[in-house]
Amino acid sequence: MTAGGAEIVVRTSREDDVPAMIAIYTHHIRRGLGGNVVVAEDPDDIKKRRKNMLSKRLPHLVAEVGGTVIGYAYAVPFRKRPAYRYTAKHSIYIHPDHLGQGLGRRLLDALVASCAAAGYRQLIGYVDGANLASLRLHERAGFREVGRLPSVAFKFGKWADSVMMQRALGDGDQSPPHDHVPDAT
Ligand SMILES: CC(C)(COP(=O)(O)OP(=O)(O)OC[C@H]1O[C@@H](n2cnc3c(N)ncnc32)[C@H](O)[C@@H]1OP(=O)(O)O)[C@@H](O)C(=O)NCCC(=O)NCCS
Repeated sequence: MTAGGAEIVVRTSREDDVPAMIAIYTHHIRRGLGGNVVVAEDPDDIKKRRKNMLSKRLPHLVAEVGGTVIGYAYAVPFRKRPAYRYTAKHSIYIHPDHLGQGLGRRLLDALVASCAAAGYRQLIGYVDGANLASLRLHERAGFREVGRLPSVAFKFGKWADSVMMQRALGDGDQSPPHDHVPDAT
């Protein structure tokens, strides 16, 4: 896959990618669909999250073309309690100049593969009910709507639904997790 003739590379993010990620994120939250907070992210928070997630074998990816970051995607644990340790949730953002060119799909497929390889069994995305691009992207990447939380967000003068999109990874629930030790009792 290329952008303007140059090869697009998907790779694990580096700390020096953080400013580019913040610029992409800030663009989208100002438009209102991609996030539920209307304040910009703190670079230190992103740096901490990056390190923390990579230490949990969760992917934190960027798409890069000619040295410029044009999209990013990452997964975090779904919940902190240990029972949920095989489930992750994710976020994905594409640079406004590169929307609708298949990049979201490429990054999301890479994220899915990486979470599956790390032993995660379910992946969940929370999508704004009016975000048709994200709903479509997730459907095409094998996610299905498993729930809709009506009017849980208030952004730009309107109530917004949050749609939970979920897909199984690897064997899903068809086998125990790779590190499961049957209880001897
Ligand atoms: C949602 C987002 C990640 C999609 O990435 P993208 O690179 O533009 O999407 P792709 O080009 O890979 O397209 C994926 C699918 O969505 C469809 N799609 C893309 N943009 C669309 C739009 N505006 N409306 C409807 N469908 C759209 C594509 O046609 C494709 O479906 P197809 O395979 O049936 O043709 C991107 O629009 C984005 O960054 N949006 C702002 C941030 C955001 O909303 N993040 C998600 C938070 S949950």
